[in-house]
Amino acid sequence: MSREEKPYPPERAKGPAGEGPERGTTRDGSPRVLFVSPEASPLAMTGGLGDVAGALPQALLRLGADVRVVLPFYRGVRKRMEGSAPVLTEVEVPLGGQDLRCAVREGRLGRVPLYLLDREDLYDRPNLYAAPRGDYYDNLERFTFLCHAALRIPGALSWTPDVVHCHDWQTGLVAPLLKGPYRGDPSVATARMVFTIHNAGYQGLFPAEKLEVTGLSRAECYHPEGLEYWGSLSLLKAGAVYSDALTTVSPTYAREICTPELGLGMEGVFRARGDSLKGILNGADYGRWDPARDPHIAAGYGPGNMQGKSRCRKALVQETGLDGVPGDRPILGVVSRLDRQKGMDLLAQALPELVALDTGIVILGNGDMRIQEALERAAAPYAGRVSLRIGFDEGFSHRIMAGADFLLVPSLYEPCGLTQIYALRYGTIPVARATGGLKDTIRDGENGFLFEPYDAGALAEAVKRAVRAFSRKKEWPRMVRNAMSADFSWDRSAALYMELYEALMGRKAGGVSAHG
Ligand code: ADP
Ligand code: GLC
Repeated sequence: MSREEKPYPPERAKGPAGEGPERGTTRDGSPRVLFVSPEASPLAMTGGLGDVAGALPQALLRLGADVRVVLPFYRGVRKRMEGSAPVLTEVEVPLGGQDLRCAVREGRLGRVPLYLLDREDLYDRPNLYAAPRGDYYDNLERFTFLCHAALRIPGALSWTPDVVHCHDWQTGLVAPLLKGPYRGDPSVATARMVFTIHNAGYQGLFPAEKLEVTGLSRAECYHPEGLEYWGSLSLLKAGAVYSDALTTVSPTYAREICTPELGLGMEGVFRARGDSLKGILNGADYGRWDPARDPHIAAGYGPGNMQGKSRCRKALVQETGLDGVPGDRPILGVVSRLDRQKGMDLLAQALPELVALDTGIVILGNGDMRIQEALERAAAPYAGRVSLRIGFDEGFSHRIMAGADFLLVPSLYEPCGLTQIYALRYGTIPVARATGGLKDTIRDGENGFLFEPYDAGALAEAVKRAVRAFSRKKEWPRMVRNAMSADFSWDRSAALYMELYEALMGRKAGGVSAHG
């Protein structure tokens, strides 16, 4: 019998003795949400998706949702959670015609239950997605496994989610799996599926002949209205096409991905989703990003007490050796993946002009080798004025946020962007390109500076305007106050997701619960 012909629902996994399936929503009617993500801060992250998946479930829980997160037990997670106990000793997970066994360990993200997929052969690696020379060769297998395992867990735990909420291409197969092979599985068949795109630039492309790995039917799925994309499989497209609701992480980016410039070839797919495509702005986890109680910085501060910020600046100057910067001149900070998306080529080109403004520049980033080398070449002549650190360093990212006067975010595109939101809370004024979520969080001249054309001259011009404002006695404190008082806490965004879940469950529409 081929994988596609296997009977569903699948056999139950060996798990804890339960009292039989829990049906319907939580007692007070709030949704049960299975949250499937390839990253979750502080356990595993390469960027903002990790921040979101670490914080949003906790905000949903505060609003009453019964939310549970599924995450691979990567090597970094294993190191932090070695003592976590298996909640399921053996779940059978189909992959490419075989059934693999997987233990599921239980952890917590705050108070949110976390289910960790323990398969050393797939996830016990130095990085999440790639070795220095390129992506892991078996990423299709690794993330197909995540999708199947996530759909097997509810049955094994006798817990029936109302909504499955998935994130980015790594989880894109959940939607067609729910509509195909799992449509007869009572533990998940009634769940509605939300797919959130954090970055349409990562499309999860794999050779078409590998479709058999996924367990999906070629006849049902491999066509232009399905997950076929110019002769390849696209896992991002799978999520976008088959989900019940499609969201992205800011209202502006939701519009932008429907255009050829930023849809990156998928604009037709996104446009076709029409009304079911929503932009919900990310929030900030002010538990982790609050200058008044940040354990990483030299001194705490807040809007009513800014002396701490001056101490953080001195500490940053000392840590980075920026002794060539006059005390009254601003420090420009950068915390970024080194990726074409982030406009780091503009930064490298504009560097001499920025230094000529008598500024100091602190850059923290990692990623693309060519961008790293371009920045190293650009920074080399400016010892004592420009500090470049390559690596991923959470503590240092906080010290830059607190010690710098400006944060530069010259992105080519930016679905939401979190660093500018953190910078605002730290009274560090963002200078950013007017795109995506940067446009939705920064008001030019009020709490930051925006520039339009994607070129080094426009970046330098915006920094010039910013530096002029920095030396104005009245304007500057006003901008810093505006920045620090902006509120992007998760509760507001989480409430919008709750509304979406409830609408999908049918309450808003007709008052009838998905489970009667
Ligand atoms: P993206 O997800 O596109 O990288 P975001 O602004 O949404 O951009 O999120 C980036 C997150 O990753 C932020 O929390 C930022 O502080 C963090 N980050 C990025 N690069 C580094 C780095 N080199 N070291 C530490 N943290 C980093
Ligand atoms: C992506 C985007 C970034 C966004 C983050 C979290 O990595 O590049 O703009 O803030 O996801 O949604």
